[in-house]
This record gives sequence, C-alpha cells and structure tokens, in this order.
Amino acid sequence: MSPAGPVEFEALPLLSRTPREWGRAVLADPISLLIDHAFLEKKAATNALELLTRWPSDWVEGWVEAITAVAKDEVAHLAQVTRLLMRKGGRLDRFHKNPYANALRQLVRKGEPVEILDRLLIAALIEVRSCDRFSVLAAASEDVELAAFYRALTASEAGHYRVFLDLARKFTEPSELDARWRQMLAAEQRILADQEPGPRIHSGVPGQSRGAGGWESAIIG
Ligand SMILES: [Fe+2]
Ligand SMILES: [Fe+2]
Repeated sequence: MSPAGPVEFEALPLLSRTPREWGRAVLADPISLLIDHAFLEKKAATNALELLTRWPSDWVEGWVEAITAVAKDEVAHLAQVTRLLMRKGGRLDRFHKNPYANALRQLVRKGEPVEILDRLLIAALIEVRSCDRFSVLAAASEDVELAAFYRALTASEAGHYRVFLDLARKFTEPSELDARWRQMLAAEQRILADQEPGPRIHSGVPGQSRGAGGWESAIIG
C-alpha cells in the first residue's frame, strides 16, 4: 500500500463500493462522524470479547490469540478516535444507534456451530465495509490528520476482516463457508442500501439510499 494513496480495496469482496461523494458528505460534520465512529470501535472491542468464549465445541487453534489481538486493536482505535474527537471540541454521547449492524445481526442462525459461523462472518462483513468506508474517507478528507488516521484504520480493519474469515475457515467446510459468505455479502449490500444518509460510518449514500431524506439536502445543497 502506498502511504499517500488510497488502499487497493478492489480486492475487497463487497458487492457495492462507496463513492467519493459519500465521503465528502459525511465529512461535512466531522464531530458527529467521530462520535459514531468511537461507538463502533467500542462495539467492535466488546463484540470480540463476547466471541472469546464462544468457540465451537471443537477447540479452534489460535482462537484466543486472534480474538484478543483484535480486541486490543479496537480498544486502541477507540482511544485514538476519542482523542481526535476531544481535540476537535467534541464529546462522546451516552447512547448510540447502529441500524446497519442491528440488521446484519438479524441474519444470525441459532445453534452451534452455525451461530458462531454467522457471527464471525458478520464481524468480517462489518470490518470489510468499514475498510471500504475508511479508504474513501482517507481519500476525501482535506484534514491531513484525519486523512492519515483513516488511512491507518483502512489497513487495520482489512487485517481484522481476514482474521475473522480465517477463524471461520477452521471449522467450516469450504463449500459451506463460500455459500454462506455469498449470502451474507448479498444481504450486506441490501442492508447498506436501506440505510439513511447521515454523518455515520455505515450510513446510506446521499441520492442513492432508499432512506435518503432531509440530511441529503442539508449537506449537499
Ligand atoms: Fe477498529
Ligand atoms: Fe476492526
């Protein structure tokens, strides 16, 4: 990866790509974007720790090491994003809503081992979409500090996406994993397209989202 250029995210498996316009629109409200982002990092850390004791009945080699490494990274990201937020005069809210992640979690099937497989694939999806979004933010941001921050996160979240998929591979037949991953990617594309635009990491694209509304005209107009 070139330190100055966008990450080569053509390799990402996502079925839709985020246009540069989305980045320019959400960066019009950087404080709200950083607040949303901080909550996502917090959730990523707690989600990793929840997964820690949820391995399939057969011990999965390297599980604890991989999951704790992700949790540690996410806590570090949370500290970084909170520091940036405070330096720009913002503060964390008490509450946060994430309709995108909530809709993805509805896809989780019950019972072992499919529940764990689905949770890992959803974690991978959120990481890979975040990677796509951070890459766009790195390219669209005119704030040098923010652009560097988003660029570093693009690489980190790409690593996490691979960690979750690799863990899933350890207890799932390749054909089964491939079929479920394709279903999840298709669902993710639909769920993202349903999101309202707004200054959030997983928001809809202004003018494209089915939920497009007043925010679009307020930011773009
Ligand atoms: Fe993160
Ligand atoms: Fe991550």
